[in-house]
Amino acid sequence: MSANDTLEVIIDGTPVTVSQAVLDKYNQPGPRYTSYPTAPEWDDSFGETELRQAFREANAKPDPAPLSLYFHIPFCESLCLYCGCNVVINKHHEVALPYLAHLKREIDRTSAEVDRARKVEQLHWGGGTPTYLSTEQIEDLYSYIETRFSFSPTAEVSIEIDPRVTTDEHCRVLRQVGFNRLSLGIQDFDPLVQKTIHRVQPYEDTRRLFDYCREIGFESINIDLIYGLPHQTAESFSGTVDKIIAMNPDRIALFSYAHVPWMKKQQGSFARFLPEGFEKFRIFTQAISALTAAGYRYIGLDHFARPQDEICRAQDERTLHRNFQGYTTKAGCDLYAMGVSSISALEDVYAQNWRDVQHYYESIDAGRWPTMRGMRVSDEDKLRRSLINRILCHTVVVKSEVERDFGIDFNEHFAPELVRLRELERDGLVRLNDGRIEVAPLGRVFIRNVAMAFDEYVNRAEPALQRVFSKTL
Ligand SMILES: C[S@@+](CC[C@H](N)C(=O)[O-])C[C@H]1O[C@@H](n2cnc3c(N)ncnc32)[C@H](O)[C@@H]1O
Repeated sequence: MSANDTLEVIIDGTPVTVSQAVLDKYNQPGPRYTSYPTAPEWDDSFGETELRQAFREANAKPDPAPLSLYFHIPFCESLCLYCGCNVVINKHHEVALPYLAHLKREIDRTSAEVDRARKVEQLHWGGGTPTYLSTEQIEDLYSYIETRFSFSPTAEVSIEIDPRVTTDEHCRVLRQVGFNRLSLGIQDFDPLVQKTIHRVQPYEDTRRLFDYCREIGFESINIDLIYGLPHQTAESFSGTVDKIIAMNPDRIALFSYAHVPWMKKQQGSFARFLPEGFEKFRIFTQAISALTAAGYRYIGLDHFARPQDEICRAQDERTLHRNFQGYTTKAGCDLYAMGVSSISALEDVYAQNWRDVQHYYESIDAGRWPTMRGMRVSDEDKLRRSLINRILCHTVVVKSEVERDFGIDFNEHFAPELVRLRELERDGLVRLNDGRIEVAPLGRVFIRNVAMAFDEYVNRAEPALQRVFSKTL
């Protein structure tokens, strides 16, 4: 293919012509902005003392933020080769016992730092595979959490489940204890793709479990898919998307496959079968077309939702928010995270726990907090974080709103960024006018690049440092 080759695609109902040159120019390493500043900027000068100080400050605010809680269960029975998450592979389920004992000690310490008047609005168990735990362990851990925090009656209580290891009994118990939202890992239904990524998961079994979860009354079911997996083509993936549409989930997360073999060596095994450039772009844009034609709204980055979903109203009203779990209508919560590798995000700080179980156990056994690294966020970081959130959540930045919220002169404060955006405008990613920065259809696909224009750290970093991120397409 030459740089002059072009492709016609429909993005969110609008026909767009893209050249290979533009695709290559923007398909570069970049953050996914689950935080700003992003994790590579945090360091070990921030530890237990700083985190506990931040916890005290959060309680002492005149109007303390409600809570979002995250618990990381790292175990999986087998390794999916594409996986970029923090996992511990072990078929012997006894490994969960010491883990749960340590997690409970962390829950004791963390809950002791939280004012009980602050209500939990959101709770999430992620992994790994939370349903690696037995139903008894799930009941026990959930009630342990429930007695140490105060829950709002409208809390969103969600969990990631891997249909391959989740039984009907698991689902019944999850519903009974209080989970009201599920996220099912699927990725792709194509047999060759599944075999290559070591995740064989027949459609019929997944569909049966999905229908059962609907029947027992989960309020919202999300499905995770990945585009850009080995052997995927636009045609093969459209088969998966059609099956998903037939299942009719409330939300769909369509992640771009993050290829980071320098961190996850096993990903190297299928590198030669990965779709690249135009092909990966076609897989994504074709999926957007099929999902939007079936009535889903393309929320942004990697999320789709039914139009009646509250997330769509929040996007229209510009109250949508993004955190480590993705898009959420629960803006303004402080996230307290527990478990190995988990990340807490309060208004003023980020803090991450040790990423390996050994270090995590050692610090808890020694009576310390398992904080590995973190960062206190400056006022300038908060301003830029808010802009990046506006881009990712609302696809528009209204300058007067930013000026009102932060007391700045937008054009003066962001003069270099506005120059940078002119180039993105020429390439069709944004539309600029006096009062607003609007993300154009092509910019919705390259939204990470649009957000990057306001990232002070990434624009300062050496290109080698930027390479820690996966590519933006
Ligand atoms: C933390 S994982 C846990 C899901 C659960 N263990 C399962 O397999 O069903 C959550 C999601 O992250 C996504 N994910 C994992 N590795 C990824 C990668 N390298 N690139 C993009 N998405 C990835 C997958 O869609 C997965 O369902």
